Amino acid sequence: MRINESSLPRLGLSRMTVDVGKQRVVRLRTHSFRLPRGSLRKVTAIYPGSFDPPTNGHLDLIERGSHIFEELVVAILRNADKTPLFSVGERRTMLEYLTAKFKNVRVDTFDGLTVDYAAKVKAGAVLRGIRALSDYEYELQMALMNRKLRPDLETVFMMPAEQYSYLSSRLVREVARLGGDISGLVPEIVEQRLKAKLDPAYKLQTRKVKVGKV
Ligand code: PNS
Repeated sequence: MRINESSLPRLGLSRMTVDVGKQRVVRLRTHSFRLPRGSLRKVTAIYPGSFDPPTNGHLDLIERGSHIFEELVVAILRNADKTPLFSVGERRTMLEYLTAKFKNVRVDTFDGLTVDYAAKVKAGAVLRGIRALSDYEYELQMALMNRKLRPDLETVFMMPAEQYSYLSSRLVREVARLGGDISGLVPEIVEQRLKAKLDPAYKLQTRKVKVGKV
């Protein structure tokens, strides 16, 4: 096979001249195609959502996103239409605490269009999680609408770990309200806050413990 000189880099090859005895011969050297780990380009991404409350699925996605983006902004929607269980302030405090270990992750709140917020923080990508096929249709609609509104903003879908594929904030709220076990589904701090919010007896109990300690 004849290889032309100009196509060598594209093929991951380069020329190398070596002396074999008295003869000088040309050999081809292959380069490794392995890319270094880390972000391919320096991109800031936003991870918008309600996070009412943050779940282990959200945190799994935040961790994955923090590995591929230079900066990840977890953006809590201040949605006046919904009656949330946790106030925006409470959700922000929980997320700030839970993401403090990721140095390139910060938490913010926004209202209005996601694309406008992305432009405000100079984000080039929107991160969203897809748990199962059922998420796909809604997520596709949103991604395409966001692309229509701002063509240069890419939506990046990532899959959370499979043990979180059935997990949603709505189900966590429902199970917690009805007294079910939510351990392993949300971080411990969220579990405590949920219990404190939904079960006045728990609140009283923890207050007594605290008072007892003093
Ligand atoms: O966690 P959620 O509730 O699934 O998040 C949905 C969210 C916040 C990403 C979506 O409702 C949103 O982007 N809202 C902001 C308003 C907006 O931009 N609407 C058009 C989306 S195509």
